[in-house]
Amino acid sequence: MTKVEDHIRTIADFPHEGIMFRDVTTLFADPRGFRMAIDQLLHPYAGLRFDKVVGLEARGFILGGAVAHQLSAGFVPVRKKGKLPGRVISESYTLEYGEAVVEVHDDALQPGEKVLIVDDLLATGGTAEAGIKLCERLGAEIIGCAFIVDLPDLGGRKRLEALGMEVHALCAYGGA
Ligand code: PRP
Ligand code: MG
Repeated sequence: MTKVEDHIRTIADFPHEGIMFRDVTTLFADPRGFRMAIDQLLHPYAGLRFDKVVGLEARGFILGGAVAHQLSAGFVPVRKKGKLPGRVISESYTLEYGEAVVEVHDDALQPGEKVLIVDDLLATGGTAEAGIKLCERLGAEIIGCAFIVDLPDLGGRKRLEALGMEVHALCAYGGA
C-alpha cells in the first residue's frame, strides 16, 4: 500500500533558492494516488452534508472539483484578482514580497450554506485565511478546511485553528 507522500515529488530550489517545493502534480497524475488523495480528503467528513466545496486557485480547483462531485455538492472557485466575470467581493493577503488579492462571486454562497474549503497546501495560511474570510462575509458556515500538504513550520495550521477552523491535512513536512 502506498501513501499519499510517496506520490509527492520534492523539487529543490523552486521557485527560489532554498525552497523545497512540494509538487503534487505527480500525485494528481497517478490514478491510484489521485483517488487515494480524494478519498482521504473526504474521510473526516463521512456522513456530513455539504452545500458547496470552495476551491482555492489553482491546485485547489483540481481537488475541489473531484471532492464536490463525491459529496454531490456544488463547486465555487476562489480566484486571483480580475479573473471572475461577475460581481465579486475581495480579500487581500500578504505574500513574501507584497500583497495578493483573491475574489469570489458575491452570489456564489448563500447565508447558512455548509462549506468545505480545499487547497493543495497549507503554508503560512494567508491564502486559506483570505478564502475563509470571503466565505464568512457571504454568511456561509465553514465545516472544515482540507489540504494535501501541511508545512507546520510556517504556522498556517495554528493560524486557521485560531480562527476556529477544523484543519485536515493528509501529510506534513518539517517540524512539530
Ligand atoms: C500555493 C499553494 C497554496 C498557497 C499556500 O499557491 O497552492 O494555495 O500557496 O501558501 P500560504 O499558506 O502561505 O498562503 P500559490 O499562491 O503558489 O498559487 P497557485 O496555487 O495558483 O499556483
Ligand atoms: Mg495555491
